[in-house]
This record gives sequence, C-alpha cells and structure tokens, in this order.
Amino acid sequence: MKNRIYCGEINTTHINQEIILYGWIDNYINLGKLIFINLRDREGIIQIIFTSSNKTIFKLASTLRNDFCVKIIGKVVKRINKNLNLPTGKIEIIASNLFIINKSKSLPINNNILNTEEIRLKYRYIDLRQFKMLKIIKNRSIITSIIRSFLEKHKFLNIETPILTKSTPEGSRDYLVPSRIHKKKFYALPQSPQIFKQLLMIAGLDRYYQIAKCFRDEDLRSDRQPEFTQIDIEVSFLNFDDFKNLIEKMLCYLWKNIINITLKKFSIITFHDAMNNYGTDKPDLRNPLKLIDLTNLFIKKNNKINNIFNRIVSICVENKYIKNINNEILNNYKLYINKYGTNDLNILKVKNHNLINFLNKNNQSKFLINDQMSKNIILRNQANNNDLIFLGTEKINGTLSSMGILREKLSIDFNLIKKNTWFPLWIINFPLFKKDKIGKLIPMHHPFTSPIKFNINDLKNNPENIISDSYDIVINGYEIGSGSGRIYDYKIQQIIFDILKINRQIQEKDFGFFLEALKFGTPPHRGIALGLDRLVMLLSNTNNIRDVIAFPKTTSGACLMTQSPNFINKNILKELGLLCITDK
Ligand code: AMO
Repeated sequence: MKNRIYCGEINTTHINQEIILYGWIDNYINLGKLIFINLRDREGIIQIIFTSSNKTIFKLASTLRNDFCVKIIGKVVKRINKNLNLPTGKIEIIASNLFIINKSKSLPINNNILNTEEIRLKYRYIDLRQFKMLKIIKNRSIITSIIRSFLEKHKFLNIETPILTKSTPEGSRDYLVPSRIHKKKFYALPQSPQIFKQLLMIAGLDRYYQIAKCFRDEDLRSDRQPEFTQIDIEVSFLNFDDFKNLIEKMLCYLWKNIINITLKKFSIITFHDAMNNYGTDKPDLRNPLKLIDLTNLFIKKNNKINNIFNRIVSICVENKYIKNINNEILNNYKLYINKYGTNDLNILKVKNHNLINFLNKNNQSKFLINDQMSKNIILRNQANNNDLIFLGTEKINGTLSSMGILREKLSIDFNLIKKNTWFPLWIINFPLFKKDKIGKLIPMHHPFTSPIKFNINDLKNNPENIISDSYDIVINGYEIGSGSGRIYDYKIQQIIFDILKINRQIQEKDFGFFLEALKFGTPPHRGIALGLDRLVMLLSNTNNIRDVIAFPKTTSGACLMTQSPNFINKNILKELGLLCITDK
C-alpha cells in the first residue's frame, strides 16, 4: 500500500506527480470557468483547481461547500501566483477527479474567531480541527513516542497495571466503580499505579515504565484534570544520583527533540530553602524576586505580631522595573494579598538610604521602623535608591505562602519573567509528614516514601522532624514530576502506617497483601511519575491543561460534549444493588 500523503506535505519535489488527497474543504471560490478550493487535512492546506475542461467533475465541484469531506485526484503543478503565507504556496493541484465523501452542515462554531471554552468543549471535534490544536495533539503523540524509545533503550519494560483496582493512598478522593457480581463492593480507579509498580520490583521486573492513566477526585485547577496521564517509572538497585541523571537525560533529550532547546543543568534546592526563599515548593526561577526574612529585626519590638505570624518577609523590586506606579495600584496589592492572610502589607520606597512609606497616610504601617531598621532592611534586600520594598507577615498555607503568592504576582505585573528560558530543578528533602487541617499527621507524598537519615526512635517519637528520600521536578514553576526512594523493609512500612494511625487491623485489611509482599526479598527501589499533560503544556507553550488533552473535562469535572457524568438507568442501579441512592 502506498504511504498516505497529506496536503501539508506536498512540495515542489512532487511537481508533475499525480496524487490522491483526502480532506475537508477549507475555502471555496467559483470564478465561472475555474473553481479554486483550499483542501485541508491534519498536516496543512493546499490549493486545488478545477477547470471547465472536464465538465462532469467541474459540475460536481460547483456543488462543493466548506467542510465537505472529499477525495481528490490531481496533478501537482507550479503555482503562478505564489502564496508565501501558505507553506504549500509554491504549488497547486489541477484536479482530475473528485469524490464527495460526505457533505457537512454549517459548523456550530467558527474556528476563525475566538470562541468561549464552553462551546469549544461542546464541539471539541470541530475545535480540534484548528491547526494550533492539531499541533498540540501531534506534539503529545511525538512526546510519548520519544519517551518510550528513550526508556526502552535504557532497558525499561512497558507494563500495564489494572484500572479496576483497590484504593491507593495518593491523598485525593477515589473514583469508585460498583461491582455487579460482588454486591455493594466497589473497585477504585487508580490515583496512580504506585503499589503495583512496587510489586513489579518485588517480582524482579527491575525497570518498569507505563504511560498510565490516573484518576483523582480533587479540586481542579488550570494544571489539574480529574483524569490525567503519568509517565510512571520505577527502578531497582539505583541510587538517587544515578536515577536523577537518567531522568535529566530523558528530559534533555525531550526538550532537544521537541523544541530544539538544550536544557541547562538542573539545580537542586531543598524543600526548606524553596519555602524560605520563594514561599513555594515549586518556584519559578525565571522570576528573579526572592523573599528576604526580616523576622529578627522586628520580633523584639512588635511582640504583638508574635501570636499570629509565621515570618516577616520582604520582597524588593528594582526601580528599573517600576513604571507608572501609583497609590491605587499599590493599594490593590494590599487587598490582593489580604485574601491570602497577609493583612499588614507595607509598601516602602528607598529614598536617600532611608525608607519612605509609599502609600498615603490612611495606610498606617503596622510595622515600627526606625532609622537603623530601615538601613538593615535596605542592606538585607540589597536595595538601591527608588527600589520598592513590599514588607509583610507571611502566612503559610500548605506548600504556598502569602508572600510567595505576592512574589509571583509581582513578577507577572512587572513583567519580570524572562521569556524562552528554562529553569529545571529538583526539590529534595521534603519532610516525611505534614499535618492536615485538623492537625493529623499525613504523608507529605505517600506512605511508601522512605525516610532518610533517621533512627527508629526518632521516627517513632519525632516523626514531624524526619526528612524523606523524595524529590519533585519543577520546571518554570510547574511541578512536572514527583517520586521517591521507597520503603523496602516491612517493619519500617508498618511503623509508618502506625504513625499515620492506621491500626494494625486496617493495615492488614487494606495493605496486608503489600506488607506480606515486602517480606519476600524486596529489592531497594525508587521511582518517579512525570505529569505527561504538564510536560506537553510546557512544550506546547500553553498554561491551560485542557489545551493538551483531546477530550478534557471542565473545572467541575464535566464533559460538555458527552454530557458526563450522567444519571444511570434505574434498572442498572437495581442490578448493582444501588437503587437506594437514586431519586425514585
Ligand atoms: P504525584 O501525586 O505527585 O505522585 O503525581 C505525579 C505527577 O503527576 C502530575 N499530576 C497531575 N497532572 C494533572 N492533573 C492532576 N490532577 C495531577 N496530579 C498529579 C504532576 C505530579 O508531579 N505515585 C506518585 C509518584 C511516585 O512516587 O513515583 C505520584 O503519583 O505532574
């Protein structure tokens, strides 16, 4: 069979060849004796001409309308009036035959204008006809193919794990599937293949990968979907340095092949330093702003603050970035950051080695700053004349602080992010545990993450102080991957469950199979999962995850095209033993 040729692939080397094309009518002009159409397929557009010399075909061509699906046979010729805006603009096709495969109603959306996302998602198959969308979908396909070939070259085996499974504790809610045969019992869709990939290591399949679908019922954001894809990886017998090199090599290979960029050396930052300097565990290092801790300058004088504060922190914006700034604009920062818990933001300007309050008199500062303190603040911020200093009490919410949020906002507003630069980094040394909203210890990553540099007594008595062998990869402010060295000692795994207040009975019920497996010669192993969707976002230059998924869900987890989720027929619910939960 001849290889398929696409409209966008035809070039001057094809001149005089007869070719067969399949595609859609993109544009149509009838000049009486000549009919011009633009034929479109996933690779591009080419001009086709019908001449009146073949009356039957010409008559048929005069019935063509936009978006009809057609087959055209014709000869490639040099184009006299070249169209340099079109990649195929130096050639055209003189049609010798035409088959109208299918007519089209007029489209419900016009891809030449900016449509609302709602309508785009409703008619996604039309939305995907746009070249910018097709490009992303193709990019995604190439990215997965590059990853597969890289990993397979490095002796990784592609192994599938179950979709109908038992809950894995990744920290979100599960999507559940009722079992028909086992009445009132449910499968959980995997939040990740975590336990299975560890079991594969125990099985001796020491290099595993999978492009794995994961399902999490959590609040959605611009980089989160309820159903997303991971490049899931697990290896045995590899230390962190070798593993890190392998993953870096893979990402460099990807960046080079997809956007021809040589990624520079990955930085390594501890979780502690990331929170201290940037107020987040996924800092965008294209942003030059840093948080400067000034707590010890204030703590003695402003004891009152002591009760509520985490730290007193400043951010200095250099005067060269500050244009057209006024009281109103600055006041908005106060309002903005108030939402995140900093209610005392003070905005100061450096004037002749001193600090003046930028905001008007109604905005009395909550900080008492004497001359000596001013000098220290200027010094610590390495500030120059006319620089702005944003000073406030930092509120930490999980792994993001109010001043970290302000740092990000300032970088956008003052245009500080350098375009076309890449800052890949590893965040390491996360705490093993954190506290949830009600003060209960929960894993920072997941309960299979190994602690490092610890003794059993410390682990049992001061679990909050224990650091884990875990790592995230962050690129330009996106967490694109997360992983860890795993616990491969049955007793340590049991202690971790104990610390998490999972009693022995529940341990046995929920994880008994896994705890037992750990007893059969478990190798040391580690792994990572990279968010494929986020990687494609970065490599396709979009900040909306829905752009990189062919059929995404809305932020409320709905599919506007298929109208899912939907109510289920009573009879089906009855068969599943679930009739009680439906309205009768
Ligand atoms: P984690 O839960 O951190 O780790 O997920 C790994 C990576 O998956 C991506 N990701 C998401 N992408 C889109 N939408 C979501 N809702 C979503 N949630 C996560 C992120 C993230 O870094 N089993 C562990 C990995 C391991 O330890 O090997 C895990 O799933 O890019």
